[in-house]
Amino acid sequence: MFGVKKIIKRIVLFFIKPLTKFINFIIREKGKYEKNELKTKLKKVGNNFSIGNDYLVLNPKYIEIGDNFTALDRFRIEAWDKYENDTFEPKIKIGNNVIFNTDIHIGCINSVEIGDNCLFASRIYITDHHHGDTSDGMIKLQPSKRPLISKGKVLIMNNVWVGEGVVIMPGVTIGENCIIAANAVVTKDVPNNAVAAGIPAKVIKGLN
Ligand SMILES: CC(C)(COP(=O)(O)OP(=O)(O)OC[C@H]1O[C@@H](n2cnc3c(N)ncnc32)[C@H](O)[C@@H]1OP(=O)(O)O)[C@@H](O)C(=O)NCCC(=O)NCCS
Repeated sequence: MFGVKKIIKRIVLFFIKPLTKFINFIIREKGKYEKNELKTKLKKVGNNFSIGNDYLVLNPKYIEIGDNFTALDRFRIEAWDKYENDTFEPKIKIGNNVIFNTDIHIGCINSVEIGDNCLFASRIYITDHHHGDTSDGMIKLQPSKRPLISKGKVLIMNNVWVGEGVVIMPGVTIGENCIIAANAVVTKDVPNNAVAAGIPAKVIKGLN
């Protein structure tokens, strides 16, 4: 009798498991994955992956993450492969030993690459694109209907420390060992071994 119950249970589970997976797939909000599921959806992920709560990961299949990754609460990372009538090939690559504090937003339609050993404070926005641009005629479209436009890739090299409240704009490369001061808006490249501060960010000192 016991054996029959066990077999029935197995049969029921056999059908229920895929069904629940399918239902989750249908009702899941865009970019919301369980932590374990997220790891399987990323293009690549290293050892020691840790992410806080309330995160949103849009299209993890375009995102590579190295070893010893930490992101605290409200980590929002978006790889857009489609928007309105346009398609994109986004590529996000995060190196080893990278730490993000809370409230990070990374947006990508082109390429965002972050090297090894980088530290990010809280409330940081990194993007390689905008909703439209300031060219003639764009104003006729409501902002959310404007095409996503990338001015270029974002590259943050190894050992960079990005302070609280920083914004990093499209087309920017931040060199190795740089420090980006709190609340800076980085619109142009920053050379290796430099401290950059202000809006727009300017190099305020070199680092030995
Ligand atoms: C960039 C930073 C490291 C520089 O520190 P520092 O080398 O001690 O620099 P100083 O305080 O000597 O300041 C040097 C100059 O830069 C200016 N400066 C410093 N930080 C600035 C900032 N965030 N924005 C604009 N200017 C800044 C100073 O006013 C000073 O200007 P002055 O020479 O005209 O007087 C520091 O100011 C900073 O922003 N740290 C980030 C803090 C943070 O986000 N922590 C989160 C923890 S992960």
